[in-house]
Amino acid sequence: MKKFLSTLLAAVMVMGLLTACGGSDASGNETQDATAPEAKEEAAPEAQEEAEPVEEGAEQESADADAAASEVLADGVLTVGTNAEFPPFEYVDDNGEPDGFDIALIKAIGEKLGVTVEVENMEFEALVSAIGSKIDLAIAGMTVTDERQASVDFSNPYYDALQYVIVPEGSEIASFDDLAGKNIGVQLGTTGDFIASDDVEGANVSQYNKGVDAVNDLLNGRVDCVIIDKNPAQVFETQFSGQIKALDGAQFGFEVENYAIALPKGDAALAQQVNKALEEIKADGTFDQLVADYIG
Ligand code: ARG
Repeated sequence: MKKFLSTLLAAVMVMGLLTACGGSDASGNETQDATAPEAKEEAAPEAQEEAEPVEEGAEQESADADAAASEVLADGVLTVGTNAEFPPFEYVDDNGEPDGFDIALIKAIGEKLGVTVEVENMEFEALVSAIGSKIDLAIAGMTVTDERQASVDFSNPYYDALQYVIVPEGSEIASFDDLAGKNIGVQLGTTGDFIASDDVEGANVSQYNKGVDAVNDLLNGRVDCVIIDKNPAQVFETQFSGQIKALDGAQFGFEVENYAIALPKGDAALAQQVNKALEEIKADGTFDQLVADYIG
């Protein structure tokens, strides 16, 4: 704040100087920026000497403006990590490009921030540790958890989620207690994995890099069920309709989760910029349009 006041003071001084130098303006209009170099050239040596600290002040002003803008954005490119194995939030489209709700959302955010978005498709498990090195941030239907918060910051949440249980048609699994001792398929390093591995009594957990691989093993009987987020579960249910069912996690007592964008720890400027863009996208209807387009 103190810095801001001195910047303001410097700015006032610059304006004062420019106005003084532009005094010859017959109309008495405020001198425009464009006349500033001219005014400086015309300035007496004495005034030029005085101008120096003012210039420093002006430099300081732009440095302060940068301080409110994350360094991550300085190169004009936002490198975004995702795991495009999670429809409808992220998947690889027919042209081999990552697409989905999250991809469209982060592109809209990039547009607001005036940067180009480049998407890196990688393993979900690798995303958190890649932030700050290989990628600037991650958007991957990622649930905010305390464990993750120890190494990354999160944007404001943008979507509510819940784990679902996919079972073969005719399965008797219907409650949390029914999961005990079962063969459970999950995507490695996901909240579904944490539930199966940490909370379910005696479960034999198979961890896959892709959710769809877990579903394939459900179809061929290698696992009894798959614990995965609601929307992907419903996509898979539709994809393999008649063979599997997606059961509501509420009947298993699972807790509501929040998706948010994972950000480098401590980059408050980036968090603030991303949150502001997200707010604008929600306010101007873009967000609802993306929900309609991708999630329905
Ligand atoms: N919401 C779950 C989690 O954060 C699963 C996310 C998986 N996302 C993905 N793109 N594969 O752990």
